[in-house]
This record gives sequence, structure tokens and C-alpha cells, in this order.
Amino acid sequence: MNITLIGTGNMGSAFAQQLSQFGHQVRITGRDLDKAHALAAQHQNVEAFAADQALG
Ligand SMILES: NC(=O)c1ccc[n+]([C@@H]2O[C@H](COP(=O)([O-])OP(=O)(O)OC[C@H]3O[C@@H](n4cnc5c(N)ncnc54)[C@H](OP(=O)(O)O)[C@@H]3O)[C@@H](O)[C@H]2O)c1
Repeated sequence: MNITLIGTGNMGSAFAQQLSQFGHQVRITGRDLDKAHALAAQHQNVEAFAADQALG
């Protein structure tokens, strides 16, 4: 599935890890884009986007 996560805190991080592990395509965004990129770099199939791009 293609899934967008909003927020890079505990829940966003945990969802990114688990969804990535099971092969889903994940977009993640948050008000701190550096944090989103750092999180995305830790997982396969996870990409960080600015909020206005994340739902596309
Ligand atoms: N953790 C759990 O086990 C758990 C379980 C059930 C439900 N929940 C609920 O899930 C939600 C998130 O929990 P969490 O543990 O992931 O919290 P968290 O680690 O504090 O993360 C909250 C996220 O929301 C963002 N955020 C907060 N205020 C914002 C605002 N005004 N505008 C835009 N973004 C904002 C934060 O951005 P920054 O990183 O920029 O601060 C962060 O990405 C909460 O409502 C919590 O009650 C959590």
C-alpha cells in the first residue's frame, strides 16, 4: 500500500519502521523536514516530503 504519515514523533517513527518492514511504500512529513528526512534515511521504502507534497 501507499501510506502517508503525518508527524515524526513516537507514533510516526514506529509506523514508519513497521510499515517499511512489511514492504509498504511510505511517505512521511512533519513540521521539521530535517527530522522527516533523518527518519526516512533509516528505512527502506520511506521517503520524506514537505507537507504540501506528501499527499500527492
Ligand atoms: N505513543 C503512543 O503509544 C500513543 C498511543 C496511542 C495514541 N497516541 C496518540 O498519538 C498522538 C501522537 O503521539 P506520539 O507519542 O507520536 O507523540 P509525539 O512523539 O509527541 O509526536 C507528536 C508529533 O506531532 C507533531 N506535532 C505536535 N504538535 C503539532 C502542531 N501544532 N502542528 C504540527 N505538528 C505537530 C510533532 O512535531 P514535532 O516533532 O515537530 O514536535 C510530532 O511529529 C498523540 O495524540 C497521542 O496521544 C500515542
